[in-house]
Amino acid sequence: MSKITIAIDGYSSCGKSTLAKALAAHLGYAYADSGAMYRCVTLFALRKGVIKDGSFLPAEIIKLLPEIHLSFEFNQHTKSSDTFLNGENVEKDIRQMSVSENVSQVSAIHEVRVQMIAIQRKLGKNRGIVMDGRDIGSNVFPDAELKIFMTADTDIRTQRRYDELSSKGQHVSYSEIKANLISRDHEDTHRKENPLVQAKDAIVLDNTELTREQQLEYVIKLIHDLTLSVS
Ligand code: DC
Repeated sequence: MSKITIAIDGYSSCGKSTLAKALAAHLGYAYADSGAMYRCVTLFALRKGVIKDGSFLPAEIIKLLPEIHLSFEFNQHTKSSDTFLNGENVEKDIRQMSVSENVSQVSAIHEVRVQMIAIQRKLGKNRGIVMDGRDIGSNVFPDAELKIFMTADTDIRTQRRYDELSSKGQHVSYSEIKANLISRDHEDTHRKENPLVQAKDAIVLDNTELTREQQLEYVIKLIHDLTLSVS
């Protein structure tokens, strides 16, 4: 059978990207991180001074959109794709706390979503892609052959994000990270447009007690069980 589309949605920091990258590498598929796109818009707005002290006017963000050009390049070293904002590799900068603190509100702006979703659909038009985010299975690719909805215990998610940031030399307190996860989950599930919801045909994966290897194994088995050939 020809290549399929795999949508991985779920709460903040529950390992969606880690699983999506491993799955893409295993299948020889492309990987796309839709959250990185919203993070780029947020980073650009922060740099331009449009977001100040955690507040902004949506109209000012919308005005910036024509100046934002996103691209993605495979990084041989990390075996994953890096995100470029106007030609600059911003993979590290978009993970900063200042971006995390504002990205949910920026991603709720209609015009921002329209522009990012257009890019996402273009990337996925030939299938053979694993994309992770919040509305991939429910909205971006409603006809994806495999939809996974990921969740995990909040403390486990906080610890994972804490370890990830620490390993990158970013020292943010555990409580600050936990508060950010909880507030982003609330905003992402309660926004008007394309909120985070479990698509009707999505399979729930709670990875609180699963290793990365177990998660990958589980999803590969799902693909086989669906009798989907993934050559
Ligand atoms: O996956 P992430 O944590 O990097 O995503 C950052 C934010 O972007 C998330 O809090 C909500 C938003 N987002 C979205 O609205 N829709 C998506 N498909 C992906 C992310």
